[in-house]
Amino acid sequence: MIKTVENKSLKTSNTFGLEANARFFCQISEETQLLEAIQFASINAIKYMILGGGSNILFTKDFEGLVIKIENKGIKIIEENAESILLEVAAGENWHELVQYTLAHNWYGMENLSLIPGNVGASPMQNIGAYGVEVMNLIDSVRFYQTETTDWQTLKKEECEFGYRESIFKQELKGKAIIWSVNFRLFKNTTVKLEYGDINSVLQRKGIESPGPLDVSNAVIEIRQSKLPDPGKIGNAGSFFKNPVVEKSIFESIKQNYPSAPAFPIDEKHVKVPAGWLIETAGWKGKRFESYGVHEKQALVLVNYGGSNGNQILQLAKDIQADIQKKFQIELQTEVNII
Ligand code: EPU
Repeated sequence: MIKTVENKSLKTSNTFGLEANARFFCQISEETQLLEAIQFASINAIKYMILGGGSNILFTKDFEGLVIKIENKGIKIIEENAESILLEVAAGENWHELVQYTLAHNWYGMENLSLIPGNVGASPMQNIGAYGVEVMNLIDSVRFYQTETTDWQTLKKEECEFGYRESIFKQELKGKAIIWSVNFRLFKNTTVKLEYGDINSVLQRKGIESPGPLDVSNAVIEIRQSKLPDPGKIGNAGSFFKNPVVEKSIFESIKQNYPSAPAFPIDEKHVKVPAGWLIETAGWKGKRFESYGVHEKQALVLVNYGGSNGNQILQLAKDIQADIQKKFQIELQTEVNII
């Protein structure tokens, strides 16, 4: 049985901490409850939306339908051999708690993805990534309810069409797949990935010569805490925009004015430019408008200092997009879902 609540505030269900109400709201932890919730929406002729950890969403208005919060739990070992472990993890598990669980077992794989807010169910959706690792590197398969065909389906990693902050769940299956569990393959003995950013320098400073997954996780946590605002203290949804992939010719023209402009190679014709650099260079970093603004240490993160509404933040995002288009001829795409 599901219990629906009417006119529920979603303020504590989104990491931006924005005021928005759901006309109806329910929390579910069983497959049968999911089907009941969908039926409730259908009988009442209202829309529904799925909410996980609420860490990648900007509410600009109330939701005039049913918000279904996925809260199923469980981490199961389904296969184990000398080299690796296959874990089945429920969508409602908190991402960082899962990372900590794997680190407590000394399994390799998730350490670079430490401290990412949100739940497991959202991780394949946008192929979360940080410090040189994307979750697609660890996913074995994804199980979900297909709302159009009304059946339970599983896609193997190769079928998920993963890309940079992209997957089939944001494209062909957008709005049709409710992710229920994810299988991850982790390793018992392999090497850690230290190439990205400051991980190596943090480890060196601490005098750690042959780091294990826990050491790397601690370094990542230190770096994240030094740059990214804690959503428990300042409302935010991590990177608001994706890092744009642009033609080399565009980047070359930027370099003429800014010789030290950073970029990462993608293929022969394209590079990825850090949106944080573009936004900072355009002068937005640390800008504050009353109760919202651009984070002072990471220009890619928009923040709600408390009391702002989603439309103000959306307008700020649009102003930044227009300015980056004007100054660099680059179109920034949002990473956050806007409701
Ligand atoms: N930069 C600036 N100014 C800024 C921010 C960044 O100049 O204010 C430049 C610097 O040159 C820096 C480069 O951008 O070297 C990269 O910055 P950083 O390592 O902080 O990473 P990012 O590209 O800004 C991405 C992810 C983050 C992830 C980090 C670390 C996206 C959209 N964001 O940010 O993911 O934590 O890499 O791997 O790809 C998220 O998705 O919510 C998120 C936080």
